[in-house]
Amino acid sequence: MKLIIAIIRPDRLSEVKAALFRAGVTGMTLTPVSGHGGEREVVHSYRAERVLLEFHDKVRIEMACSEPFVEPTIQAILEAARTGGVGDGKIFVQPLEQVIRIRTGERDNSALTPVTADAVQLAARSAFATAAAAAELDA
Ligand SMILES: Nc1ncnc2c1ncn2[C@@H]1O[C@H](COP(=O)(O)OP(=O)(O)OP(=O)(O)O)[C@@H](O)[C@H]1O
Ligand SMILES: [Mg+2]
Repeated sequence: MKLIIAIIRPDRLSEVKAALFRAGVTGMTLTPVSGHGGEREVVHSYRAERVLLEFHDKVRIEMACSEPFVEPTIQAILEAARTGGVGDGKIFVQPLEQVIRIRTGERDNSALTPVTADAVQLAARSAFATAAAAAELDA
């Protein structure tokens, strides 16, 4: 299991959400955040030069995924969040030790599978497996 954290532009959020739902990823947490991505703006004044570290509005999306969904999740975010301009964002992937669904006490992969989305998830998973197998044949 992995915890995927993506920082994206707020105006890409609806496309990213749609792409994630198409990929079968339905559990996520959204937080508005303020971020700095390395850009420096140098301001020249009469005697000095100041470097401004500007912060921009971004959206942070957290998704706990079982292994088969890690790559489809990353691909969905890449395709929907990319404009090609600086500041498109970043994706962080971290190992995830445990997940517990509070209502049932289920743990780990069972706690990650939504009760209502099995068909969507199975379709997304088999589409990914087919694409991965094709890519392996090409290599
Ligand atoms: N190293 C980092 N650690 C934590 N958050 C980061 C890091 N880099 C970027 N972020 C977050 O991601 C947001 C978008 O970053 P940004 O897209 O500018 O990354 P970048 O690596 O500078 O890529 P680009 O060259 O496209 O600008 C930032 O505003 C910040 O919230
Ligand atoms: Mg940047």
